Amino acid sequence: MTDSPITTEIHDGILVITSNNPPVNALGAAVRIGLDAGIKEAMSNDAVKAVVIRCDGRTFFAGADITEFTKPPVMPMLPEVVDTIEACTKPVIAAIHGTALGGGCEVTLGCHYRIAVPSAKIGTPEVKLGLLPGAGGTQRLPRTAGIETAVEMCAGGAPISAAKALEVGLIDKLAGEDTLLADALAFAQECIAKGPRPTRNLPVKGDPASIEAYAKANARKNRGFDAPAANIACVEAATRLPFDEGIAFERTEFTKLMFGTQSAAQRHIFFAERQAQKIDGIGPDVQPREIKRVGVIGAGTMGGGISMNFLSAGIPVTIVEMKQEALDKGTGIIRKNYEATAAKGRMKPEQVEAAMTALKPTLALEDLADCDLIIEAVFEQMEIKKDIFGKLDKIAKPGAILASNTSYLDIDEIAASTSRPQDVLGMHFFSPANVMKLLEVVRGAKTAPDALMTAMGLAKKIGKVAVVAGVCHGFIGNRMLMPRQVEANKLLMEGATPQQIDKVHVDFGMPMGPFQMADLAGVDIGWHRDPTRIENVRDALAAVGRWGQKTGKGYYDYDEKRNPTPSAETQKIIDEFAAKSNLPKREISDEEIVERTLYPMVNEGYLILEEGKAQRASDIDVVWIYGYGWPIYRGGPMFWGDLEGAKKIVAGLEKHGFAVAKTLKAKA
Ligand code: 3HC
Repeated sequence: MTDSPITTEIHDGILVITSNNPPVNALGAAVRIGLDAGIKEAMSNDAVKAVVIRCDGRTFFAGADITEFTKPPVMPMLPEVVDTIEACTKPVIAAIHGTALGGGCEVTLGCHYRIAVPSAKIGTPEVKLGLLPGAGGTQRLPRTAGIETAVEMCAGGAPISAAKALEVGLIDKLAGEDTLLADALAFAQECIAKGPRPTRNLPVKGDPASIEAYAKANARKNRGFDAPAANIACVEAATRLPFDEGIAFERTEFTKLMFGTQSAAQRHIFFAERQAQKIDGIGPDVQPREIKRVGVIGAGTMGGGISMNFLSAGIPVTIVEMKQEALDKGTGIIRKNYEATAAKGRMKPEQVEAAMTALKPTLALEDLADCDLIIEAVFEQMEIKKDIFGKLDKIAKPGAILASNTSYLDIDEIAASTSRPQDVLGMHFFSPANVMKLLEVVRGAKTAPDALMTAMGLAKKIGKVAVVAGVCHGFIGNRMLMPRQVEANKLLMEGATPQQIDKVHVDFGMPMGPFQMADLAGVDIGWHRDPTRIENVRDALAAVGRWGQKTGKGYYDYDEKRNPTPSAETQKIIDEFAAKSNLPKREISDEEIVERTLYPMVNEGYLILEEGKAQRASDIDVVWIYGYGWPIYRGGPMFWGDLEGAKKIVAGLEKHGFAVAKTLKAKA
């Protein structure tokens, strides 16, 4: 097997089975075949007294090969390989570094003993792919890590550290960070006398009551998802069924999930997110620019949040405001946010101080002269932005990237106010900017490839999921929001209520509907501020101070805990406008709300692609998942559109008189 990613070597009676399958040692067919052969070799060679399974490269097996899930199966499958390892009559030791995830974790559970470097992480993230550990993980984890940790790992999906794994009994020993193989070999020698320790023979540890407690505590977070409940059910099964029956239960649940649409959607997003980082038409010859210091203009909510991203990643920031009071307020909020994180134990006090020391507040735009990237985050008005970019053109050093955090405006027009449009691009952060994962990087007509590449690379460094968008009103995300809002408003005129429309969206899986979103963002956003000029429901609400949650009333009324209730005053305003519209008031079905608010979004997505404003359909899905809370188990609007079927969508759109994008129509 010369091409096998698996090699074996005997060291002093220990057979070392090594996988070398870059980038993440996924357990594809060739790896499984090699592992199976390695164990058989150990069994048939009397000179072998124990086995060490290890990986070359950056990580231990990071899981099953997800790309194989849609292909015909190749034997042996992973559950069989894990069983083969477990059934070995000589002790098998997993030597773990990097991330032992999913099937990788399950391979370690098939091994009889586990040793890991301190930086290693072990986890079962299958739930994030709409799945569960399907190679015995749900049955073996309660026997090694205990029920409580098992349910958290399986249903939550977050990996645990090597230290925690040692504490709960998931690993037996910590190795030196740089001496894993030597330490594993020494440990294997110790294990020879102990003999094999098949996990299936161990008793389940811990309190079964922790399962229900976990399920209750996470019910809200898991709303709409199938996989967490299936993971919980499997761990629960381990507490009451013999091992083999538990495995059979796990298999049935795994198969259900694997062939369901939720897992298909979540796997689609896994790859979509990674694909989004790739920029079409930029070759390996292009190199990113170096970013040592970032400048942020504006210390308001956006500017402050944007700054925190860089400070948290160890990149110094110069933040500029026009007035001392605003500057102090902005930096004060940054400190408060960091201190709140530290109070929750997610940051050390010295990290707070390090971040604050790396922040340089100033009132002088000239202080941005040493910045490699400058992000403008001021009021959303073209004239103001052009003025700032004109000034930056004179201040910024050559090669500095000049970015606008605009959410709608024309980057090319902004770029034209400088003598260096090749260095100008959009970096559209989503509020709260230090929390939301999405970043739209807007490529202007003249943006240089290396500037774009730098912004995309930097996004990854600060933990964002970045998507390249073209210049158009609202870019990808907000542009698709517009047809939804227009239709939602029309539906109000025809007899639907805000709560009915919002409920359809929440039932679909969105965190909130269009009117709840308006109340959260502020009904007065973009309002002309003239209470006598009332042209629509929104103007009327704004004129009477119904600005949303911040004033305790908007489309809804709010109590002091911000719980919404339908508002009689809002309904009266809606009714008055509806009467003027001369449209007959009628019962609106939930189906019509879907057809008129969600189908137009899919349609807009196709238009965006036709105009080349997004690189690929999956990028649009990434925008909506990470920027607007589209339920990940529905895979984003474009993936969902395919599931609904182009025929149905086109019929729905045409029924309601929409102009259908030609590429969508062609698919129907
Ligand atoms: N299968 C196939 N490809 C995978 C993969 C997997 N399990 N994990 C990662 N890759 C690919 C990525 O798509 C990416 O490909 P690309 O370069 O062509 O875009 C490449 O490997 C590198 O991945 P990342 O960019 O994500 O690298 P990072 O260093 O940022 O992260 C990682 C590494 C933490 C291992 C991350 O890749 C990850 O979380 N992977 C998925 C882990 C996972 O979900 N495992 C469970 C799989 S399901 C399973 O095991 C079922 C079993 O129970 C039966």
